[in-house]
Amino acid sequence: MSAVDFPAWSREVAGRMEGVLAGLVPSARITPSRLHDAMRYAVLDGGKRVRPMLVFAAGLVTGARADRLEIAAAAVELVHAYSLVHDDLPCMDDDVLRRGKPTCHVEFDEATALLAGDAMQSLAFQVLSENRLADDPDVQLRMIQLFALACGSRGMAGGQAIDLDAVGKPLTLPELENMHIHKTGALIRASVLLGALCGSPLDAERHAHLDRYAKLVGLAFQVVDDVLDEEGDAATLGKTAGKDREAGKPTYTSLLGVPGAKQFASDLLAQAHEALSAFDANAVRLRELADFIVKRDR
Ligand code: IPE
Ligand code: IPE
Ligand code: MG
Ligand code: MG
Ligand code: MG
Repeated sequence: MSAVDFPAWSREVAGRMEGVLAGLVPSARITPSRLHDAMRYAVLDGGKRVRPMLVFAAGLVTGARADRLEIAAAAVELVHAYSLVHDDLPCMDDDVLRRGKPTCHVEFDEATALLAGDAMQSLAFQVLSENRLADDPDVQLRMIQLFALACGSRGMAGGQAIDLDAVGKPLTLPELENMHIHKTGALIRASVLLGALCGSPLDAERHAHLDRYAKLVGLAFQVVDDVLDEEGDAATLGKTAGKDREAGKPTYTSLLGVPGAKQFASDLLAQAHEALSAFDANAVRLRELADFIVKRDR
């Protein structure tokens, strides 16, 4: 992608992803129309597209082709959008506002929202397996495996289970970190690793540095999400604020207070930059994304 500043680059990635996702999710003219309509509603025209940006940013480090990165990015965004649809259901966080619109189950109905999430997850694995992402088929298989792990009971879905189980319970800091690493960190980490794997292999040491960056940024992302839930407003966030406190969820702000959580996020940011110190200017977008993730207001 061209040598532009971060806001222009991020708009470029988001614009590109809108077209890719619109082409991958079946049209609402195809039956079952209502299901396809709900999938399109959930994944198109909304969200910050941070995970696709992380895929592209990591791909820049390994010289990956954009036509491969956009497939990996679409898969991650499809799973993320599915996780939001399910996260908002009455049986989970029971939210009515998402990405500035009524949540999927409010706009459609609960059964349709459930199925839309299911189908978005399948579609993600379909696109990862029917497009070439790496020259070596073994590498592509590893990519699909690592993504499956990140989505499942040892990753995001497991983190969501821990989250639901923790309602009304005072978690310790290590327990809270474990929850956040799974429910949010796993997909963010997968975004970075998939993006990198679309390009030339990194040596073990650089791969470890990149993985460390990905884990730090993944945790920081949810710490900041906790702060925004406490401090933000619905108009800016596009989702209801104050939900965590109302639901009695343990968060970084409930454990450390807002100033403590902000300090922790900025410590994680400093460590994320440190993890990238062995990389050259090709890691510029990863550095900018880490800053964006910690300093964002939505
Ligand atoms: C919200 O994610 C849910 C979490 C995992 C914290 P984002 O803040 O990336 O949501 P969108 O994609 O911008 O709507
Ligand atoms: C959601 O965490 C994590 C996933 C969807 C996997 P939250 O419940 O804090 O996300 P928001 O605040 O509703 O976006
Ligand atoms: Mg939740
Ligand atoms: Mg939620
Ligand atoms: Mg939240």
